[in-house]
Amino acid sequence: MKKVLSGIQPSGQLTLGNYIGAMQNFIKLQHTEECYFMVVDLHAVTVPQEPGALREQTESVAALFIAAGIDPAKANVFVQSHVRAHAELGWLFTTLTNMGELERMTQFKDKSSGKDSVGAGLFVYPALMAADILIYNADLVPVGDDQKQHLELTRDLAHRFNQRFGSTFTIPEPFIPKVGARVMSLDNASKKMSKSNPNVGSFIALLDPPDVIRKKISRATTDSGREVKYDPANKPEISNLMGIYSHCAGMSLDEIEAKYDGQGYGPFKKDLAEHVVAVIEPIQTRYNEIRRTGEIHDILKQGAERASLIAEKTIAEVKEKMGFLNPRG
Ligand code: TYM
Repeated sequence: MKKVLSGIQPSGQLTLGNYIGAMQNFIKLQHTEECYFMVVDLHAVTVPQEPGALREQTESVAALFIAAGIDPAKANVFVQSHVRAHAELGWLFTTLTNMGELERMTQFKDKSSGKDSVGAGLFVYPALMAADILIYNADLVPVGDDQKQHLELTRDLAHRFNQRFGSTFTIPEPFIPKVGARVMSLDNASKKMSKSNPNVGSFIALLDPPDVIRKKISRATTDSGREVKYDPANKPEISNLMGIYSHCAGMSLDEIEAKYDGQGYGPFKKDLAEHVVAVIEPIQTRYNEIRRTGEIHDILKQGAERASLIAEKTIAEVKEKMGFLNPRG
């Protein structure tokens, strides 16, 4: 059984991009592997968060994990800040990470560009992400394409620690879907679909009402021409919509092309909206039920307890190897 770990930030609403790029694989892997899925609140505060909104979003994202199909009897679901060792190992890893490595991170460049004042937390974020993964000695990390670079740095840090202080960490592998690793914006297929985009028409949120989803898809940008054909270089907008279709309807790209041969974009978009709604609506029903019962609090408590057992063991080993004095003598 492999160890699997991943996390999602509680900043803004979760999107269909998060679901297709990451959560669908969480749900698949939980049946065969030992899984740890967390809401990464310590990462979210690397940009300013309103306290009440952060609390609400953290609970909401955790509830969405369960509503989307993560079974707490199979996978450990928890909140990052509930397992203190993440922050501690994150700090230790900042001491092993070079400024140049952090300066190269495209997520940092994107999030800091054009800002007058950039928090140091945003800069050292990848060291904390490496700690998240390595503290469980994860073998596999299911993520979308945009996290690949952070994963590479995590692997480098694991090697570096092992070389300097002796074999300690497993070198993790990214687990990235073939289609849907980068779901693009509905208004511009050269940009990633993102919950932080100020144009709400550019993304589908998992909590958007069905009619809003239908409207957003009907307004989604399409390429010139009318052929439903998967060709990311020449037809990026329609190829992006086809990727979403493929995930939501469980159909291959070839099957989708054949189905809409000669029909144009209209019928394709109409059916796409219904497939997306068919995936999202049951998630929303379960989500509302979970929020109503408050069961998420027990799930998160148990998840954090189980995760802490492993995390505490790793941090003790790391501190021993690095030469910290043991408080128990
Ligand atoms: P975050 O919160 O931005 O995104 C969560 C996951 O969703 C994927 N994703 C997408 N996949 C496809 N298309 C998109 N448009 C799209 N948008 C987001 C992301 O790739 C990610 O897998 N640094 C991470 C959170 C993190 C983490 C970790 C992940 C912290 N610690 C440890 C894995 C392991 C982040 O900001 O993800």
